[in-house]
Amino acid sequence: MNIIKNEKITIRRPDDFHVHLRDKKILKKVLPYTSSIYGRAIIMPNLTPPITNIEESHKYRKRIMRALPSNHHFIPLMTCYLTDNTNPREIENGFLNNFFFAAKLYFKNSTNYTKNGVSNIFAISKTLEVMQKIGMPLLIHGEITDNDTDIFDREVKFIDIILEPLIKNYPELKIVFEHISTKIAVDYVIESNDFLAATVTPHHLFFNRNSLLNEKFLPYLFCLPILKEKKDQKALKKAVTSGNKKFFLGTDTAPHFYFCNKVCQIIKPGIFNAPSSILAYLKVFEEMNALKFFEKFSSENGANFYNLPLNKEKITFIHKPKRIDKIIKIEKKVSFPFLAGEVMNWSVIL
Ligand code: NCD
Ligand code: ZN
Repeated sequence: MNIIKNEKITIRRPDDFHVHLRDKKILKKVLPYTSSIYGRAIIMPNLTPPITNIEESHKYRKRIMRALPSNHHFIPLMTCYLTDNTNPREIENGFLNNFFFAAKLYFKNSTNYTKNGVSNIFAISKTLEVMQKIGMPLLIHGEITDNDTDIFDREVKFIDIILEPLIKNYPELKIVFEHISTKIAVDYVIESNDFLAATVTPHHLFFNRNSLLNEKFLPYLFCLPILKEKKDQKALKKAVTSGNKKFFLGTDTAPHFYFCNKVCQIIKPGIFNAPSSILAYLKVFEEMNALKFFEKFSSENGANFYNLPLNKEKITFIHKPKRIDKIIKIEKKVSFPFLAGEVMNWSVIL
């Protein structure tokens, strides 16, 4: 990384290893925010219906490529949504023939569009065996969702009940613990072997549950995993800015567009952060005096974990204020991007 006269920062083009692009008109609207910044992105398969086989994944990839602005160089890395009925052979074929980059594990009803998710980890044991054998990464939304578990305890319970036994049974399965939100998860990842890594979102670095719930409720900060305590936020900031190779960039940008006549009655979890994500991460690294590790987190650790070549292209930031859009519209519907209306210290030179 070069910092020229403290005014410009140049790093390798980053990758976003956790992105929801949705489909159709929303896909067309949101994709350029990601593809203008990031060289590659792992595309989440939780569409309706979900992407559960090679054919649907291939068609979705084509729709993404058609929606891509012609001057953007961007590679979507496709994932397969696991269900109780996943066929291990489909997973193996998809991975070995480069249709699937990874498989995504959502437990049933753990978050949006997961009613077809896995009901019991044993239902996919054959698939997990195959994935371990062929070196295919398993991406996990790490939350337990039984009715008795408090929403703030879901991630920690997931570690005890699912992750720990999973790692014991499949010690060489490559696992990404997605969008971690607690200090306990940070410590667990640091202490585990090199087959486990984690993504961290900008919103979990910027905010804690007081930001969401204190004084006034801010629905546009509602996401899953839900924001946790200040001590958790602190641990996440420390981990990502430490240079540790097990933590890398995955924004979990999850756009939701609402038509709100006076009031939106149901707010789904998910934060649309693609318009501000890279500047938000940069701000965290600057505040933590860790700019020297910004490139590792954004452009190297993830690619290395996934055995991808590092991007050759570069991206430059200039120390010049940039205001994030207040609102993003699609037809009559609106979305509020993460940090809407806030001024960031740096801008991207596009
Ligand atoms: C995501 C979405 O809207 O698809 N929402 C979220 O709060 N993160 C799903 C997910 O990744 O949990
Ligand atoms: Zn997600």
